[in-house]
Amino acid sequence: MLKKGLFISFEGIEGCGKSTQAKLLKNWLKSQGFQVVLTREPGGPPISEKIRKILLDNRNKGMSDLTELLLLQASRVQHLAQVIVPALKAGKVVICDRFADSSTAYQGYGRGLDLKMVNELNDFAVDGHWPQLTLALDLPVEKGFLRAKGRRRSLDRMETQALKFHKRVRQGFKAIASGDPKRVKLLDGSQPPDVIHAAVRQLALSAMKKR
Ligand SMILES: Nc1ncnc2c1ncn2[C@@H]1O[C@H](COP(=O)(O)OP(=O)(O)O)[C@@H](O)[C@H]1O
Ligand SMILES: [Mg+2]
Repeated sequence: MLKKGLFISFEGIEGCGKSTQAKLLKNWLKSQGFQVVLTREPGGPPISEKIRKILLDNRNKGMSDLTELLLLQASRVQHLAQVIVPALKAGKVVICDRFADSSTAYQGYGRGLDLKMVNELNDFAVDGHWPQLTLALDLPVEKGFLRAKGRRRSLDRMETQALKFHKRVRQGFKAIASGDPKRVKLLDGSQPPDVIHAAVRQLALSAMKKR
C-alpha cells in the first residue's frame, strides 16, 4: 500500500493502445499487491458517464467547441470528486485512460481553441491533482484508425472528425510531451504491446519511488 496514492494517465490518439496498456499495467500492479483503480475520461462516475454520452453522440452535430470543452471539464471535476481523489487519498494507484492532456490536444490543438484558455480551464478543473506520470503513446493517425476499426463498433462524434483534425491532435500530444518532459513520457506506440508494457512498468516504478 502506498502512503500517498499514485496517479497515472494514458494519452494519445484513437487506436494508439491506451486501453491495452492501461489494462496491462493494472493487472501487473495488482499482481504486485497494489490496489488499483482503472478509470477513463470522459467518464468515470455515473454523472460523468452521462456527460460522455452527450459528448460522443453523433446526433450532437451542433455542439460548439467551447460547449465541448466545458462539458469535458464538468465531467472531469465530477470524476475527480467521486473517484480519483478518494482513491488517491486511500493510497491506491489510479490509472486513467485519457485525462486533461486530451483537452489540450483535442480542444486546443485539434479544434483550435486558445491554448492558454484550455490550460487555465484544465488547471481550474484538475485543482492540483495532475497525474504524477502521463504515458503518451505516439502513432501515425492512419495506423491508429486501422487499429480502431478492428474494434468493430460504430464511430463516435470525435472519431468521425477529419483525418487532419486527428493529425493536429497527434502533434498536440507531442508538443505536450516536449513541454512537460518530467511528467509526460512519449512512447512509440507502433512497438509490440509487451515491449511498450515493459517501458511502462519501468516508468511506473520510478514514479512510485518518487512518492
Ligand atoms: N502495440 C500494439 N501493436 C499492435 N496492435 C495493438 C497494440 N496495442 C493495441 N493494439 C490493438 O489495437 C486496437 C486499439 O487498441 P486500444 O488499446 O483499444 O487503443 P486506444 O484505447 O488507444 O484507442 C486493439 O484492437 C488492440 O488490440
Ligand atoms: Mg481505448
